[in-house]
Amino acid sequence: MALNRRLIVVSNRVPPSESFEEQGRGEASAGGLVTAVRAAMEQSGGLWFGWSGRTSRRRVTMGPTVRVFGRLQHATMDLSGDEVSQFYLGYSNRTLWPLLHSFPSHVDIRRQTYLSYRRVNRRFASSLLPLLSRDDLIWVQDFHLFHLGYELRRMGWRGKVGFFLHVPFPPAEIFNILPWSHDTLQALLEYDLVGLHNERYMHNLIDSLDIELGGESHDDTYYYEGSSTRLGVFPIGIDPGTFRPKKTHRSNDSQGDCNGHGTRSLVDELSLASTPDLQLILGVDRLDYTKGIPNRLRIFERMLERYSNLRNKLIYIQISSPSRTRVPEYVQEKELVERLVGQINGRFSEAGWVPIRYLYRSYAQSDLAGFYRDADVCLVTPLRDGMNLVAKEFVAAQGEDSPGVLVLSRFAGAASTMRDAVIVNPYDIDGTAEATYQALRMPLEERRRRNRKLLSVVEKHSSRNWSQTFTATLQAL
Ligand code: UDP
Ligand code: G6P
Repeated sequence: MALNRRLIVVSNRVPPSESFEEQGRGEASAGGLVTAVRAAMEQSGGLWFGWSGRTSRRRVTMGPTVRVFGRLQHATMDLSGDEVSQFYLGYSNRTLWPLLHSFPSHVDIRRQTYLSYRRVNRRFASSLLPLLSRDDLIWVQDFHLFHLGYELRRMGWRGKVGFFLHVPFPPAEIFNILPWSHDTLQALLEYDLVGLHNERYMHNLIDSLDIELGGESHDDTYYYEGSSTRLGVFPIGIDPGTFRPKKTHRSNDSQGDCNGHGTRSLVDELSLASTPDLQLILGVDRLDYTKGIPNRLRIFERMLERYSNLRNKLIYIQISSPSRTRVPEYVQEKELVERLVGQINGRFSEAGWVPIRYLYRSYAQSDLAGFYRDADVCLVTPLRDGMNLVAKEFVAAQGEDSPGVLVLSRFAGAASTMRDAVIVNPYDIDGTAEATYQALRMPLEERRRRNRKLLSVVEKHSSRNWSQTFTATLQAL
């Protein structure tokens, strides 16, 4: 069903650049939410409202800044220094993020940061309201804004409001750790439609609703105190065209020196071209403890211990894009990762061969597309991840001639549909080392067969499909 209303997307994070056109040309993205929403909004047009990413020194009283990019409007508001530290760094990233990813030992509970979170949700609502028209369809994104729908309702908004959670919804016994779990679930039921990536997360949410609120669910609808909320599964995806190779040969093949994207290749980036028979393993993540980068390093170390034939023949490139750098758990994770890289390189390096190349920086997606194409294996091994779009981007970037192999953690949401990846348990260092070794040796026919099947999943569950299905469901309610 075509969308016949203006779409209003609200998220804490919006693309960081001056213009959407620049973003489309591949400036570094801020994570999966921006990747998918940007692709979706390029199709639908509408208004994207969020935090400017800036901290205002003074009390923030000004209205949002609105910019127009063709059919798209982009409205952003600043946060005060206190709001950034309590709402964003505090409650969002030290309470909700670890809770929702089932890391209870990392959860920091403070009433003060919760109250700030509530105030910022209220301020998002009051800043957004003057920009709205009666028939708009509002789509709120992610855990930073659980209470936005509730605040809009309190301010008199009667139109449709949907919510999508980009991260996992954990089992009830984890979610209940939150002293404000009851209020948060009640706030969620103010939305007309709540979307999750998969059945497991939906099951967990219904379980929490049953235990905490005691409403009733029938089919896909939750009934509570006279109102109803539709719950649905909408697996997020990418725009595969952005990553699709344009030519059919690999950069280190004898046929040519282009990886098909006309941009940088890993081989050029790391000056590897002169090394014959070299295989490349690639990891691409925000530097986040949920991504399991230390485990991945230990897996690689175990491979070098166990399979000495890999020495001088294999390089593991880890791109870690800086993330939430003022949150203590992220500072510790960075130190741990750097220590392990140093230890492993110190232990195994030889003249002319450094086994791990560690790049602590962000790359444009146009560059990543070329890097994915150059890799023999992509290690996507989070300890917990809502979906993981890197897995989908890697598959979309492969050529038919000699596709690389995706090694995927069973704890990534992507594993529920990407069954033709090599599925691993990243806590099992030996088992994952063995599976990755086999992936490096996988025969061409099997690599092709797996990539064809994975590609059809990536194309089916694209960003366009995700947003069209969600907004059509919301509109039809
Ligand atoms: N990304 C990027 N540049 C980088 C690293 C990552 O543009 O240097 C993008 C990547 O292409 C992907 C997103 O960031 O679209 C990461 O999404 P994912 O779902 O894998 O994880 P998230 O960061 O949202 O937890
Ligand atoms: C994940 C979250 C997003 C968030 C992104 C980057 O994808 O689900 O909501 O925007 O990480 O994190 P940041 O804190 O930089 O916005």
